[in-house]
Amino acid sequence: MSSAERVVFEHVTKRYPGTGAGNPGAVEDLSLEVPAGKVCVLVGPSGCGKTTSLKMVNRLIEPTSGRILIGDTDVGRRDVIELRRRIGYVIQQVGLFPHQTVGENVATVPRLLGWDVGRQRARADELLDLVGLDPASYAARYPSALSGGERQRVGVARALAADPPVLLMDEPFGAVDPIVRERLQNELLKLQERLAKTILFVTHDIDEAIKMGDLVAVMQLGGHLAQYATPDEILARPANDFVGRFVGADRGLKRLALVRVGSVDLQPVTTAMVGGDAAEARRRAAEDDFPYVLVVDERNRPLEWCRDDAIPAEGTVAATNGLPAAPIFDRHTTLKDALSMLLASDVQAGIVVDDARAVRGLVTADMIGDRIRASAETAAVSSGAT
Ligand SMILES: Nc1ncnc2c1ncn2[C@@H]1O[C@H](COP(=O)(O)OP(=O)(O)OP(=O)(O)O)[C@@H](O)[C@H]1O
Ligand SMILES: [Mg+2]
Repeated sequence: MSSAERVVFEHVTKRYPGTGAGNPGAVEDLSLEVPAGKVCVLVGPSGCGKTTSLKMVNRLIEPTSGRILIGDTDVGRRDVIELRRRIGYVIQQVGLFPHQTVGENVATVPRLLGWDVGRQRARADELLDLVGLDPASYAARYPSALSGGERQRVGVARALAADPPVLLMDEPFGAVDPIVRERLQNELLKLQERLAKTILFVTHDIDEAIKMGDLVAVMQLGGHLAQYATPDEILARPANDFVGRFVGADRGLKRLALVRVGSVDLQPVTTAMVGGDAAEARRRAAEDDFPYVLVVDERNRPLEWCRDDAIPAEGTVAATNGLPAAPIFDRHTTLKDALSMLLASDVQAGIVVDDARAVRGLVTADMIGDRIRASAETAAVSSGAT
């Protein structure tokens, strides 16, 4: 695998012919660095210069001024053909060649590089596997015999064929329905864990930007960079009113999707082991404000919720008349998913378990609410300061 390389925009401006000195350019003095192996999402309203920025990287468009580096090399000084072979490019309409099979499409760059046919075919099969398409059933088909999502996967496979250090993706999932889009997004994130390419990804969908980006560049009409930061930073502290409006009034909620249960201080929970002394459990249950105890098995795995006053005064603790021990979260659960599950449950507390399914503590709707309010306050303070 070739290693990823950083991409740097240095004061890059693009003015199309006809836009005079007084007219805004398509891209205006854009400077940013995408570190090697990271995903940078360019996001912004239609016409703000996202596609233009992307196409200047592989020189489908030449900048009016400024320069773009891949690694330490100025792309303007590289041979265009050679440059494009080193950069994977995926676009919304995919642009598969209709009269070539899927396998031939994927092998486009290896063929241009003059690989022998056997090696081309082996590479195409490997890549189809990588994007979740069985070569035996897909390689010989034509693009017209694929679904939109499958075509998109072939587009990604083709872009990866020469193992490029940089991948450009222009609204790659824009044309597929939301369910397929979600799946393709997750597949790309999984693939990226292994490949660690430097990816420039264009979208106009802020949710997609937050999900996919290590870094997000919010662009504004006239090709100005409004903010360049991590998704959490952009949601917590929008740099100006434009970014604030663009990320939306529900940015507190959106931010929850970035936080996982594993990083939260859990609320302790009173447990009672099934078969244990009921009087003692009742006494402990009365010591906290929470009206339930969690009945657990001998390995501390949750069995059910029991109201404090439903614990018998004597005898032993049983798991027979309580509420289901739900919802259950693990450390990967996002607070956004946690909240929606909590809102649908009887006891507004989620039980957090470890890999052995043993209870670690609780996440409550109140805790999540506090977090949303705290993030709204940080944001208010920072926008007041600017
Ligand atoms: N060939 C061209 N000649 C003149 N103006 C152009 C040309 N291509 C693009 N533009 C203008 O440059 C600006 C930026 O275009 P660009 O395609 O980069 O936008 P975008 O952010 O990708 O938008 P979208 O989300 O709609 O794809 C737009 O105002 C567009 O009209
Ligand atoms: Mg565009």
